[in-house]
Amino acid sequence: MGYLDFAHGGNIYEVRRKYKKEIIDFSANINPLGLPERIKENIINNFNRILHYPDLQAEKLTEKLGSYWKIDKENILLGNGSIELIYLIFSAFKPKSTFIPVPTFSEYERAARSANSKVQFLRLKEKDNFNLPERIDAGGADIFFLCNPNNPTGNLILQKQRADNLAKLTVIDETFMDFLPDQAAHSLIGEAPKNKKIIVLRSFTKFFALPGLRIGYLIAHKDTVMRLRKYQLPWSVNTFAQMAAELALDNEAYAQKTNCLIKRERSFLFREIAKINRLSPYPSRANFILIKINDKEINSSLLKERLIEKGILVRDCANFRGLSGKFIRIAVRARGENQRLIQALGRVI
Ligand SMILES: Cc1ncc(COP(=O)(O)O)c(C=O)c1O
Repeated sequence: MGYLDFAHGGNIYEVRRKYKKEIIDFSANINPLGLPERIKENIINNFNRILHYPDLQAEKLTEKLGSYWKIDKENILLGNGSIELIYLIFSAFKPKSTFIPVPTFSEYERAARSANSKVQFLRLKEKDNFNLPERIDAGGADIFFLCNPNNPTGNLILQKQRADNLAKLTVIDETFMDFLPDQAAHSLIGEAPKNKKIIVLRSFTKFFALPGLRIGYLIAHKDTVMRLRKYQLPWSVNTFAQMAAELALDNEAYAQKTNCLIKRERSFLFREIAKINRLSPYPSRANFILIKINDKEINSSLLKERLIEKGILVRDCANFRGLSGKFIRIAVRARGENQRLIQALGRVI
């Protein structure tokens, strides 16, 4: 299956082609504050740097990330979005078997299959609010791949102390962890450099609103980083992505503003959606909310179509393994847009 068969959120191009209209995109989970002004200015002012190759080692950014997380730069590997790193892990480790709790981000499965790894799934149950069960038998899997907080359910599924005992290698995708003001209590970034059984994935895409630039990173033991580097294409992280990420890390005010906005707007959306008959939102720690449709007549695809007519794009979750056609996912956006979503939902349901 190609990536076009695994529809993701954020495909505004398809909506423009098909419906010939502009929409508010609630389908991709991007920080509604958008790109910080300083980053925009810096990219424009440094346009001439396009004449040179990017820094192969991304020295400045790697050092900066090292001091940001208080780890050595040898424990960090940058990638062309965290997606590149997901595939890189499979090409470097060639795991015979992969274990994935679902529903979750579909690219773990696709990456595993592209490396001919045998995939085993653990179905997280709706009645357990999609939490990991107490006991997990991963059947000796070579790789355990999970997302914390999980996309699309929004809950924290892993307690720190469990990560060590899941499989020979556990990859924890913390793409949405920046949205937790108390992330230090939940992130495994501190453990990964010391523990060869753990790799942590992070991204600049969501929290710093840089999806079009493509930049993510992983944190792991230095031997793991060296092994992965052997399989990576050179210059995979472009000049502007490196520059933007450096500036993003300096912007504490942006991080605080984001945390306040997400907390306030997520509560607003949750409260308002819960008031709509036949819709049930799931509690989320991230910048998106999973919603169950409790209506015999309406499924996620129909709801998505009806919302597009009203200028709103949501993520139809029917193609998430482990979810039915009765779920949609919405991003947390700014108040005006959130109000438009609530109004539209109220009308179409
Ligand atoms: C859980 C998760 N991991 C990774 C990615 C890929 O992010 P990036 O833009 O860093 O490649 C996404 C994108 O939607 C995601 O939802």
